[in-house]
Amino acid sequence: MESVLDKRPALKAVIDQVAEVTGYLWQKGWAERNGGNITVNITEYVDDEMAALPALAPAKQIGKVLPCLNGKYFYAKGTGKRMRDLARRPMQNGAIIRICPDCASYEIIADEPVMPTSELPSHLALQDYLLSTGSTYKATLHTHPIELVAMSHIKRFLRPDEMTRVLWSMIPETLAFAPLGIGIVPYTLPGSVELADATLEQIKYHDVVLWEKHGTVAVGTDIMDAFDQTDVLCKAANIYMCARAMGSEPEGMTDEAIREVQEVFHLPTTRPC
Ligand code: 13P
Ligand code: ZN
Repeated sequence: MESVLDKRPALKAVIDQVAEVTGYLWQKGWAERNGGNITVNITEYVDDEMAALPALAPAKQIGKVLPCLNGKYFYAKGTGKRMRDLARRPMQNGAIIRICPDCASYEIIADEPVMPTSELPSHLALQDYLLSTGSTYKATLHTHPIELVAMSHIKRFLRPDEMTRVLWSMIPETLAFAPLGIGIVPYTLPGSVELADATLEQIKYHDVVLWEKHGTVAVGTDIMDAFDQTDVLCKAANIYMCARAMGSEPEGMTDEAIREVQEVFHLPTTRPC
């Protein structure tokens, strides 16, 4: 079967990277069954021929009006699709969608009428925000990282900034590569507009957002970057849990040591564009 990727090597490279990352998600145990989802803004790769492609199914509502998304194109994982299948066949387990001029609905244009992820409201709300700030970030990743989800079941870590403080204190690299830390969204119905709105508020000030008792959402320049953001924080959570499994609350870097890393490495306190 013909694919829009056939004549577009630059677009194919982006989708190949998505496939590579979804393989990692499966290997890490973060992607049981259809767990997790991805969107990538691919508008820059859409030429006139691709823009003229007809809709493969009737337009569907997003559930939100997102003014910066008019005419934008995204690759999105299909709802119910498995990351491990997507790793081998990205265009049969995901689709390219175009946002309609009303900025409130979308249509699927390629390769097949695969319905996008149920978490589309959250992904597109973040994409809209990123565009509104002039950000170069293109990718959003929702996944189910075991250690971070486990920590979200413990009340102490849901207190503002407590999770970030503990994760930063496990290993200096966490602080260096996730300098904005992790934001918390109290448990909210998966796929809901309420979840999208709450996620948006947290991502403005954090590298990664943790959905209580569910998973994480990260944004990145590309999907590898969004994966790395999640991985760095999950590694710190794993170290915390290993120390606890040895029978003690880990000491953690001191607040002074954390401040020193922040100062010496001039770590940003707001999201760079
Ligand atoms: P989808 O299969 O609709 O992408 O849903 C997976 C998921 O993780 C929902 O939160
Ligand atoms: Zn999920």
